[in-house]
Amino acid sequence: MAKSKPVVNPYLPEVATILETIQETPTIKTFRVRFDDESAMAAFSFIPGQVGQLSVFGVGESTFVINSPPTRMECLQFSVMRAGEVTTRLHGLSAGDKIGVRAPLGNGFPYESMKGKNIVFIGGGIGMAPLRTLLLFMLDNRSDYGDITLLYGARTPADMAFKAELPEWLSNAGMSTTLTIDTASPGWEHKVGLIPNVLKDLHPSPENAVAVTCGPPIMIKFTLMALQEIGFKDDQILTTLERRMKCGVGICGRCNIGTSYVCVDGPVYYNSQLKALPAEL
Ligand SMILES: Cc1cc2nc3c(=O)[nH]c(=O)nc-3n(C[C@H](O)[C@H](O)[C@H](O)COP(=O)(O)OP(=O)(O)OC[C@H]3O[C@@H](n4cnc5c(N)ncnc54)[C@H](O)[C@@H]3O)c2cc1C
Ligand code: FES
Repeated sequence: MAKSKPVVNPYLPEVATILETIQETPTIKTFRVRFDDESAMAAFSFIPGQVGQLSVFGVGESTFVINSPPTRMECLQFSVMRAGEVTTRLHGLSAGDKIGVRAPLGNGFPYESMKGKNIVFIGGGIGMAPLRTLLLFMLDNRSDYGDITLLYGARTPADMAFKAELPEWLSNAGMSTTLTIDTASPGWEHKVGLIPNVLKDLHPSPENAVAVTCGPPIMIKFTLMALQEIGFKDDQILTTLERRMKCGVGICGRCNIGTSYVCVDGPVYYNSQLKALPAEL
């Protein structure tokens, strides 16, 4: 995997100001932030798929993928699903408020070795966040990649994040986009059905292709089965794991699966790598 610039002090958060927030769904809020130190912002680089530890001062830190691409550095974007204390407190913040950012952490997607390949993105719910980063990065470097296919699903239309971008993705001639929801809903003009079933209907060719998938564990389980049924091999499937992290730099031992530290060796893995890990997922 390519390497990004290392953080100088991995424990020291950069203070950042929230520039804008977007209420994506009833439970997902997007934050666009910039570091207060403009020289730190100018020096910051990362790889699509890398994550940051966001801190709400006096409350705690949690892990979120940087879901804006490194080709669009006017801000760093994070989309946060409300789950517990830190995420609830984050949801209470708005433009002008300060947070801490420890980033970049983790390995990121192997975008160099994906050049020349057809890319099939399969995202479910908040799992669209890391895919968004790589998708926009690839659209910004469009000639480096083959066909780009996106299948994005959510439970209901209201649960679809990145709504403002969906019309652009649907009409973009450089990609083919399919949206799906779990059960029929009035006014919904796209597919209805679970992601793995819609994937099997779409039947993307595994020829010279890489599939990139992220979503809830149950979706991942059946999506991996569907991809294998279609003919994708384990070394053609990338997924990004959500494993609780603390230090984010391979020291505390909070995130490991066997000998693999998700905060350093992941969160992005080929399915072939995941199969070699102890079966505790
Ligand atoms: C590499 C990585 C990338 C992530 N990217 C995003 C992202 O872009 N957007 C986003 O909304 N969330 C993301 N998450 C998940 C996010 O970190 C957790 O939801 C968050 O830490 C919850 O913090 P909290 O204090 O609000 O909740 P807590 O009070 O800590 O937990 C609330 C509930 O969520 C469960 N939980 C918390 N963290 C995790 C986890 N990592 N895996 C499984 N269950 C968990 C807890 O067991 C508990 O049931 C990511 C996690 C990882 C490890
Ligand atoms: S989070 Fe500390 S070792 Fe991975």
